[in-house]
Amino acid sequence: MFWKSIVIILGLLASANCAVIPNGLIAQRDVDLDGRIVGGSQTSISSHPWQVSLQRSGLHFCGGSVISSTMVVTAAHCLLKVTVPTLRVRAGSTYRSIGGVISNAAAFKIHEGYSTSTKINDIGVVWLKTKLTLGANIKAIQLATATPQHGAAASCSGWGSTSYNGGSSSHLLYIDTRIVARTECGSSSYGHGSKIRETMICAAGSNKDACQGDSGGPLVSGGKLVGIVSWGTNCALAKYPGVYANVADLRDWVIKQM
Ligand code: ARG
Repeated sequence: MFWKSIVIILGLLASANCAVIPNGLIAQRDVDLDGRIVGGSQTSISSHPWQVSLQRSGLHFCGGSVISSTMVVTAAHCLLKVTVPTLRVRAGSTYRSIGGVISNAAAFKIHEGYSTSTKINDIGVVWLKTKLTLGANIKAIQLATATPQHGAAASCSGWGSTSYNGGSSSHLLYIDTRIVARTECGSSSYGHGSKIRETMICAAGSNKDACQGDSGGPLVSGGKLVGIVSWGTNCALAKYPGVYANVADLRDWVIKQM
């Protein structure tokens, strides 16, 4: 009976996306990873100057990346419940609630091909009302033109949860990961299976992952934006790499909006 319930609980964990599970189930993990993104380290905005925080009523809800002085790229799913008058971007700060500059949104657009069920084309753009002054702490990042190789080093940053269902960080955190190619990510080596579709790419690190609240934020490899935090199964589970929108696949759509 005990083992049966364990199996059921594991099954529930595996099927959860951004769903809610009781805190008690992952208490041990919380203790291990306290104070770190999931397995991340504190960093400063000058090392990730394209990173921004998307805010609504003054509160961080997703990440994003500066791609020009008037434009930010994020995940489509971050923009689903947002209205232009309430949407703001904080740029140039290591902290999500203070510092840097705040710019109001002028408009935003969700990729026409985004699907809430399959999560393909999970990308969107935000146009800013106040132009960002680019400098040491605010820089535009180039969009990758080619899909990174399997095994390539990639780093991800954000202010999201430091453990699944755990608290999040007010200080910017980052992790070093390795790219897991799409076919590999959907293979039996991992648990995602056929959920890995076109326009997706994965990245994994041992006990390192993006998590809730990191969505929309950057996955960077070779100095280029290669991915956008999209979805996962729980966070930092060995069998479940983080899933990202593949920027190389979606680049043309973004360029068209610029
Ligand atoms: N959907 C989540 C969000 O809205 C992002 C989840 C990323 N999860 C992961 N395990 N890589 O913030």
